[in-house]
Amino acid sequence: MFDYLDGGADDEVTLKRNLSAWTHIELIPDTMVDVSKIRTATKLFGERVSWPLMLSPTGLTRMFHGQAELAVARAAARHGLLYSLSTMGTTPIEALAAAFDGPKVFQIYIFRDRGLTRELVARCKEAGFHGLTLTVDTPVAGNRERDRVSGFSLPPRLSLASLLSFALHPGWSLSALTGAKFDLANVSHRVDALAGGPMSLFDYIGGQFDRTLTWRDVEWLATEWGGPLAIKGIMTPTGAIRAVASGATGVIVSNHGGRQLDGAPAPIDQIAPVRDAVGNGVDVICDGGIRRGSDVVKALALGATACSIGRPYLYGLAAGGEAGVDRALSLLLDEFQRTMALAGINDIASLARRHVRPSRDRHRPRPSCAGRAQAGGNPEVIHEV
Ligand code: GLV
Repeated sequence: MFDYLDGGADDEVTLKRNLSAWTHIELIPDTMVDVSKIRTATKLFGERVSWPLMLSPTGLTRMFHGQAELAVARAAARHGLLYSLSTMGTTPIEALAAAFDGPKVFQIYIFRDRGLTRELVARCKEAGFHGLTLTVDTPVAGNRERDRVSGFSLPPRLSLASLLSFALHPGWSLSALTGAKFDLANVSHRVDALAGGPMSLFDYIGGQFDRTLTWRDVEWLATEWGGPLAIKGIMTPTGAIRAVASGATGVIVSNHGGRQLDGAPAPIDQIAPVRDAVGNGVDVICDGGIRRGSDVVKALALGATACSIGRPYLYGLAAGGEAGVDRALSLLLDEFQRTMALAGINDIASLARRHVRPSRDRHRPRPSCAGRAQAGGNPEVIHEV
């Protein structure tokens, strides 16, 4: 389960690049600015959020804690943040909406069964979701070799190794293994792929997701939904322009946390060209490798509207349930506010390109916050912002 959360595709080059790319950006401070108050509120998907962070959609969240998505959404609400529920999530759209009155977005995949996608859109409208995110970087599943090695499956299967690990972590096991049954709660009534027994995520995606998708399907979804729509998995200015021309109100610059195309650039290195291509008035969200509040400052300076995090809140959820998510969000907010004060910026609207510069240092890769940094390792190749 940990490796499903923590791992990436193939050699995990992009996974590591997502983390290290931030260290190549210097922050250039202003001085002697009154930072007694710092304005951080903004709008995402047309909804007000307390600061420019959102919680990414994550699949199979029930594995990490018995309260699953509800614990995450409740913590997001307490922080005034936007929560995204995943198609591959484990809590029904309606249950999430009943427990969470904050800004919420549903992340949608287009299944071969187009009727299922239509149904999901209708349910989101009915439940009062504020936006939709279409993920476009998953025509097939990435090659997650850690999952192959561990034999990870849907639903997770108990093995001798996992039983031993549960026994060694009784507190965690109690919260994660008790409670609601694991279920792909929004799709399982129409997709009976798991009826024959556990299968790999790779095979599930291969069998269910529609690989024929093109921009015409984005136009179709934008019309079907009729509200704020972000396309997630856009990595180029051309892709962003096509997304907006097809009816999207925003793009999420993302390589799926390094879990899909290994070799892809880090999202933060694509933010400035994407913003330049789409101009103002389009949400440009940066998703990948955000581990510090200062990363959000850097992304905003380069032109992002906000950042989106997945693993940081899942590590918190797995370690401490709702309180763990709360703690992760508080740490990030605290770092964000402190960085803004130290950089002499009292309003996110004042953040500009002059506040950042590519660094000439040679850095070692930054450790992931799960503490799984490899000792030593080669210095990363420097690339320009
Ligand atoms: C699901 O979207 C995953 O990356 O595992």
